[in-house]
Amino acid sequence: MDDDRIISANLMMEEEQTMEFSLRPRYLAEYIGQATAKNNLKIYIDAAKMRKEALDHVLLYGPPGLGKTTLSNIIANELGVNIRTTSGPAIERPGDLAAILSNLQEGDVLFIDEIHRLNRTVEEVLYPAMEDYALDIIIGKGPSARTVRLDLPPFTLIGATTRAGLLSAPLRDRFGVISRLEYYTIDELTYIVSRTADILQVQVLGEAAREIGMRSRGTPRIANRLLKRVRDFAQVKGDGIITMDIVKHALISIQVDNLGLDEIDHKMLRAIILSFQGGPVGLDTIAATIGEESQTIEDVYEPYLLQIGFLQRTPRGRMATHTAYRHLGLPIPNSSP
Ligand code: ADE
Repeated sequence: MDDDRIISANLMMEEEQTMEFSLRPRYLAEYIGQATAKNNLKIYIDAAKMRKEALDHVLLYGPPGLGKTTLSNIIANELGVNIRTTSGPAIERPGDLAAILSNLQEGDVLFIDEIHRLNRTVEEVLYPAMEDYALDIIIGKGPSARTVRLDLPPFTLIGATTRAGLLSAPLRDRFGVISRLEYYTIDELTYIVSRTADILQVQVLGEAAREIGMRSRGTPRIANRLLKRVRDFAQVKGDGIITMDIVKHALISIQVDNLGLDEIDHKMLRAIILSFQGGPVGLDTIAATIGEESQTIEDVYEPYLLQIGFLQRTPRGRMATHTAYRHLGLPIPNSSP
């Protein structure tokens, strides 16, 4: 995966994680966008609190950087409970998960990021835990082995994934709430940029905030990251105030274009158009041609290109659309779709 990619929503460096934490909204009322998910979650949270029960298990899915982790922390805050955070690949053995589960207190939230990467033996520990708040422990080996069932306190599992399709059906079926996060609108991103600028105590002009919002690929994490880089340019090249000129200058230097596409997006589209006559071309072939991993392309680069109509997925592979040709300033061949 490409660590240097300024618009990558997937990667968070450690410093950025700490920083981002203080920028994140802590309650639903401060959370901008995702109106459907937010309004429904508010009802479920209020209802669970009125009944004094644990909230049903929640699955959040959607592209990276749209606020799955933030929402999970907000849910725990709104419920007034503790949150324990881990991730699919971090839980290697069933015993690791059993240890986490048996340390939960009543009503707590267990947040598992990248839940599609849990291995099957670990997943099997989750089923009775989710369904019956129980932990089945196998004691002994061979014919004399037996299972002992331990009770767990009622808790809420929040799973987050970029790839809901990779979740096994039995796991997916055990979530009572399944919520898809959508790309943010430009208005929402503009608002997020202004909110973050207030927290960072940097002045950003309205049109400049909007320009950053427009180039953030529908993703708050990218908006906040671009804002921080533009702030550096404002400080060194200007008087600290983020103006439209500063934004334009900074984003040219960072190589983020007017739609938020960077060098890798350009490389990928150019490869499809120039090396494969616009496609269709398979994902693995594209990956090999531009020297990226297929999975990274599928999870990080491609979803936004599909969203803005630059790419199409067909059974025979990916195709670049005329909109993509026009954006890159390349001539549209007569025979292409
Ligand atoms: N910062 C990052 N995402 C946000 C959101 N959805 N609302 C407010 N601030 C944010």
